[in-house]
Amino acid sequence: MDSINALKGYNKVGEGNLDTNNNNNPSLRKARNRLIISITSLVLLTTLIIASIIGYACLSDESEDTRENENPNSASTWSSDQILKSLCNATQHPNSCLSSLANSHASDPVELFKLSLKVSLEELLNVSSVPKRMMAKANGGKGVETALRDCEGLIGDAIDGVNKSIECFVGVGEEGLSESKVNDVRTWLSAALTDQQTCLDGLEEVGSGGVGDEMKVAMKDSVEFVSNSLAIVARIVEMGGTSVSAPPHRKLLGISVKC
Ligand SMILES: *[C@@H]1O[C@H](CO)[C@@H](O)[C@H](O)[C@H]1NC(C)=O
Ligand SMILES: *[C@@H]1O[C@H](CO)[C@@H](O)[C@H](O)[C@H]1NC(C)=O
Ligand SMILES: *[C@@H]1O[C@H](CO)[C@@H](O)[C@H](O)[C@H]1NC(C)=O
Repeated sequence: MDSINALKGYNKVGEGNLDTNNNNNPSLRKARNRLIISITSLVLLTTLIIASIIGYACLSDESEDTRENENPNSASTWSSDQILKSLCNATQHPNSCLSSLANSHASDPVELFKLSLKVSLEELLNVSSVPKRMMAKANGGKGVETALRDCEGLIGDAIDGVNKSIECFVGVGEEGLSESKVNDVRTWLSAALTDQQTCLDGLEEVGSGGVGDEMKVAMKDSVEFVSNSLAIVARIVEMGGTSVSAPPHRKLLGISVKC
């Protein structure tokens, strides 16, 4: 504030001297020089302050990340571990939940949920080629072939449901994770789980024996992963929607939902 007032003062001096129209006046030159020095100092000072703020912000971000990555026993890692355990504890397959999400080091429940959706999608994409492969070698007759063809469509539907759920959580914004969107996601994931079960039931109904068992083995992980995703989102809602159990620097509500 002082330097701003000083600047105004010099401005007045400058204007006053200009009014006298005496450009060669040494006191005018002196005033101008002082004005230039003041402005330069002010600009430098402002730049320095802004640079310090940016520098400090980057530094604290870095040290945060470094802490999380390099000290596995530090409190922040411990809390992300606790959050993962608490989410996976709510699933029917805690082991596959923990092993598929453990490497993420994410401490935000919504991030972990998004990751679980990606894991589910990847596994479903992997499984999607299985029915065709079985059709090529199965000789269980028309019934089995039809059931396998149904499986292909059902797995495709499950993929669409999980993919739609992922599309819901893109980017960061202010609108938050609304209850109706969460309900949409739960509906799609339930349907994706039912699709897979319907495929297995269909094979069982046509008495495909070995083919059904083989499909059950092939779909074991994808069934478990989708079931885990469903339990995780339910747990997040139970934990208070989107605002509980996260470290303060994570903004759970800052998830914009596009679906
Ligand atoms: C897992 O859930 C059970 C109850 O369902 C609870 O007793 C236990 O403390 C939970 N464990 C963790 C690590 O959250
Ligand atoms: C994909 O499935 C095959 C067997 O069908 C399995 O060997 C492979 O590990 C799976 N890949 C992933 C990423 O799950
Ligand atoms: C998921 O949806 C997006 C956009 O709707 C699409 O571009 C992408 O191909 C889909 N992925 C799969 C695996 O279906």
